[in-house]
Amino acid sequence: MKNTIVVGAQWGDEGKGKLVDVLAEQSDLVVRFNGGGNAGHTVMHAGETYKFHYMPSGMLHNKVCILGTGVVINPKDLLEEIDSFTSSGHKPQLKISARAHVIFPHHQLIDAKGGGKIGTTGRGIGPTYSQKASRINLRMLDLIADDAVDRIKTALKDVRDMLIMDEIFNEEEFASYCEAVSTEYAGFGDQFKPFITDTEDLVRIASKSEEQVLFEGAQGTLLDLNYGTYPFVTSSSTLAAAAFVGGGAIPGVPIRILGITKAYTTRVGEGPFPTELEGDAAVNLREAGHEYGATTGRPRRVGHLDLYALRYAIRISGIQELAMTKIDTLALVDGVKACIGYKIDGNEIDYFPADAPTLELVEPIYKDIPNITSLSKEEWLTLQGKAKTDLPDSIQSYIKFIEDFVEIPITILSHGPERNETIVF
Ligand code: IMP
Repeated sequence: MKNTIVVGAQWGDEGKGKLVDVLAEQSDLVVRFNGGGNAGHTVMHAGETYKFHYMPSGMLHNKVCILGTGVVINPKDLLEEIDSFTSSGHKPQLKISARAHVIFPHHQLIDAKGGGKIGTTGRGIGPTYSQKASRINLRMLDLIADDAVDRIKTALKDVRDMLIMDEIFNEEEFASYCEAVSTEYAGFGDQFKPFITDTEDLVRIASKSEEQVLFEGAQGTLLDLNYGTYPFVTSSSTLAAAAFVGGGAIPGVPIRILGITKAYTTRVGEGPFPTELEGDAAVNLREAGHEYGATTGRPRRVGHLDLYALRYAIRISGIQELAMTKIDTLALVDGVKACIGYKIDGNEIDYFPADAPTLELVEPIYKDIPNITSLSKEEWLTLQGKAKTDLPDSIQSYIKFIEDFVEIPITILSHGPERNETIVF
C-alpha cells in the first residue's frame, strides 16, 4: 500500500508514538495533521526515552517530518523541542506548514480560565482553533513576514476587540503584553525561517512518486470535535479523514488506515467513560500500565476494553486494521472483561449515544475474558515473526474475539515500549 494513516481508536494515548516510530522506517515522509502540544508521544529506542509533543515520531529515523496545516504550534515549545533533539545528537529534518496556526500566550490563559470543566491539557488548543475559525488568528507565515511585529500587534488588537480579553488583561497589561509578544514572536519567526514551507506541495510530490507517506494523527477518534464525546473532546478532527484536510493527503492515492487500540481503555480529563474501573482494580491496572499523562502527568482513568466504543470509532474513522498495544500490561491484572454492548433503562441499544449525559448513564454489557497469559520479555521476543496461531491460547482467543466483534483484523501486537517489542502478523 502506498500511504498510511495512523489514528488513535480510543480516547488518545493508545501508543501511536511507538507505532509511528516502527512504521516510519519504511516511510519517506511522516506528516502530523492535527492537534498541538496537547499530544505527548513517548518513544523508547536504544535505551533512550524520547518525549515529543510536536515533532512526529519519525524524527528518530532521520526521515523528513512535517507539521501540517491542521497543527497548531506554540513556537517557544517547539523551538525547545528542536533544541533538545539537536543537542542529543540528532539532526531534525523538520518542515512546518506556512499555513499552520500559532498558539500565543493568551490562548493558554484563556484555556486555563475555561478548560477546567473539560479537563483540557491547558496548552491553549481550544482557544487557538476557535480563533482560527473566527479568522482572527495568525499563521506561521505571519511570523516570518518582514512586517511580523505589525501583523502580530494588529492581530492581538483584533482579538482584544472581538473577544473577552478584558477579563484577562486590563488596558495597561494588554499594552505591555502586545509589545512583549510581538517582539518575542517575530524573533521566533526568524528562527523558524529554515523550517517553514509549502508542506502540502511536498506531500503532493511524494504522493505522485514512489515515496511512501505516513500520516500521524494525534489524540484519538473518540476525542474528535465532530464525532467524539462532545463537549468532552479536543478542538480538532482526529479521524483518518483529517489527514486529507490537515496533512495534505490526496484523495485517490491508495491509503491504508491503521487504528491503534490498547488492550484495555484509558481516558485523561473529564467526560463519559462507560467501562471505567474504580478502587483497587483501577489502581492495579494504572500502576501495571504506568498510566500517567505524557503531557500533564495526570493519572489516567482506566477501564475494561470497550469494544462497543471501539467499533464505533472504527466505523466513523474508516479504520481497516488494528494495532493492539499493551497486551503485556493486561496480562498483569485479573478480572479482565470486554464491553460488547450498552443498555439504557435495561434495554440494549444499537447506536453510540451522541449525548454525553446519556453516555454517562449507559450500563455496559460485559463478557468475561480468561486471564491473559503473562510472558517474560524474553518469551515475548521469541514470538517475533510468528503467526497468531503461535501465540498462547489466551492471547489468541482475546485477539480472535476482538476481531470477530469489530470485523477488522489485528495486524500488529505491541508487547512493550521498545521498537523491537512489536509483532507484525
Ligand atoms: P485539549 O486538547 O487540551 O483541549 O483537551 C481536551 C480533552 O482532550 C481533554 O480531556 C484532554 O485530556 C484530552 N486530550 C488532549 N490531548 C490528548 C492526548 O494527546 N491524549 C489523551 N487525551 C488528550
